[in-house]
Amino acid sequence: MWSHNKLWVAGITTLMMGLAGLAISCSTVQRTALIPVQIPGATYVGNQQCFYCHTNYTKSFQGSIHHEVHLEDISKPGGTSCETCHGPGSRHVEAPRERAQLIINPGKDPQACFQCHFDVHMQFRLPSHHPVTEGHMNCVQCHDPHARDIFKPSGGLLGMARQNEQCASCHREQARTFVFEHEAMREGCSACHQPHGAVNRKLLGEPDANLCLKCHSQVASGTGGVWIGKVDHKSLLGMGSCWSAGCHTAVHGSNFQPKMLY
Ligand code: HEC
Ligand code: HEC
Ligand code: HEC
Ligand code: HEC
Ligand code: HEC
Ligand code: HEC
Ligand code: HEC
Repeated sequence: MWSHNKLWVAGITTLMMGLAGLAISCSTVQRTALIPVQIPGATYVGNQQCFYCHTNYTKSFQGSIHHEVHLEDISKPGGTSCETCHGPGSRHVEAPRERAQLIINPGKDPQACFQCHFDVHMQFRLPSHHPVTEGHMNCVQCHDPHARDIFKPSGGLLGMARQNEQCASCHREQARTFVFEHEAMREGCSACHQPHGAVNRKLLGEPDANLCLKCHSQVASGTGGVWIGKVDHKSLLGMGSCWSAGCHTAVHGSNFQPKMLY
């Protein structure tokens, strides 16, 4: 990992290394030149300046992963990590009431985030995706950019509630409690869904039975059977995916049946 006073380029190198492990990474991406967000005529002033007027954000931000990411001139007091997302702040500091023109708010336009997270930009272009690039949703509905923990919600909740809370605010039906709980939900929605986007419909990580088989092992018996749990699935697996074949339609949990059926 980079240290506090490394150039921001070090942060980007780390990001690239992360990229290499992504299924959808492609060679052109790694060569993409990075252009920091621009505000005409403005220069970097440093986090200390922001602190005078936006004290709360600056305090909570200390523990955030982005606190360590700086633009080149890190000799500014407190570093320049606020301005990596908001753009150079000098003109805003001079005229703070002229909001739109002089400071960038990535809650309104995620382009500022995409400049560093090009991999995420690509995920939002996959066939099935949350409508972020269309402007119907934004990153802050699931991420808290100034908090110690960027994954919402920060602190307080534990276990399943913590993992699924960000999704539950919009998808109550899937995140509610069921009489027969599917234990997979304890690992969070992203055990099966890719939160930004996926090649498969409904943001699914896998289009078929493989989605389920990564947790439920499939055992071949000497007599030609294919056992999943206590049931021979040999004749069943050809009928469709585990949920579309009408067998486990209630993948998120069921109120009627322990085998996950409506
Ligand atoms: C002199 C005080 C002052 C300083 C210094 C200052 N701001 Fe602001 N900032 C304001 C005020 C006032 C507003 C407008 C608040 C409002 O109208 O509700 C604002 C608004 C903002 C907004 C919201 C813009 C929008 O369109 O929604 C952002 C983002 C922001 N500031 C970031 C920063 C950053 C980053 C720094 C440090 C580089 C900084 N500010 C320094 C006073 C300041
Ligand atoms: C990772 C990118 C990122 C960094 C770094 C960042 N912010 Fe923000 N900031 C955002 C986003 C996204 C929003 C929009 C939040 C929302 O709409 O809820 C925002 C909104 C704001 C606002 C406006 C809030 C409002 O209610 O309109 C202020 C002020 C602000 N940031 C200040 C700061 C300061 C000060 C720092 C450094 C201590 C900082 N930000 C660092 C992404 C960032
Ligand atoms: C100046 C570049 C830059 C900008 C702009 C930026 N990020 Fe980041 N972000 C990083 C770096 C570097 C990391 C650390 C990456 C790593 O460890 O692989 C990071 C980490 C993250 C993580 C956590 C990843 C993890 O695994 O813990 C999230 C979530 C994230 N960024 C979201 C955002 C959002 C949302 C925005 C816009 C509001 C944004 N970023 C803007 C550079 C940036
Ligand atoms: C629908 C909720 C949601 C939205 C909207 C969202 N994210 Fe995420 N994001 C997540 C979740 C959940 C994870 C953790 C994924 C995991 O655990 O596998 C994540 C992980 C990340 C990561 C780290 C892992 C990676 O894929 O590199 C980054 C960076 C990130 N998000 C950036 C962003 C940016 C930038 C935006 C806006 C353009 C955004 N996210 C919008 C839910 C969301
Ligand atoms: C701010 C609200 C919001 C949050 C938070 C949210 N979603 Fe969504 N979700 C949407 C919207 C809007 C759509 C698109 C619905 C459409 O296209 O008809 C969607 C679509 C989906 C779909 C595809 C549904 C379909 O019929 O194709 C899945 C699966 C999904 N979200 C899962 C998640 C998961 C998992 C999380 C948490 C990481 C999450 N959502 C967080 C609003 C949200
Ligand atoms: C065990 C895997 C798994 C987990 C965990 C999971 N889902 Fe799903 N989800 C699925 C499958 C499979 C489908 C497709 C069902 C279908 O097409 O009938 C789906 C469909 C959806 C849909 C679309 C619903 C519709 O009617 O089309 C939404 C929204 C959704 N899931 C949200 C979530 C949320 C939110 C969570 C976490 C609280 C979650 N899922 C956890 C497997 C899972
Ligand atoms: C993240 C891991 C995980 C994934 C992915 C997963 N499951 Fe599960 N599932 C579990 C665990 C753990 C249990 C409870 C222990 C058990 O019965 O094996 C369970 C239980 C079940 C049960 C009840 C078994 C019984 O005998 O009562 C069914 C049915 C089921 N899962 C179907 C599915 C289907 C269908 C999928 C794919 C859409 C799926 N699971 C994906 C972890 C997972």
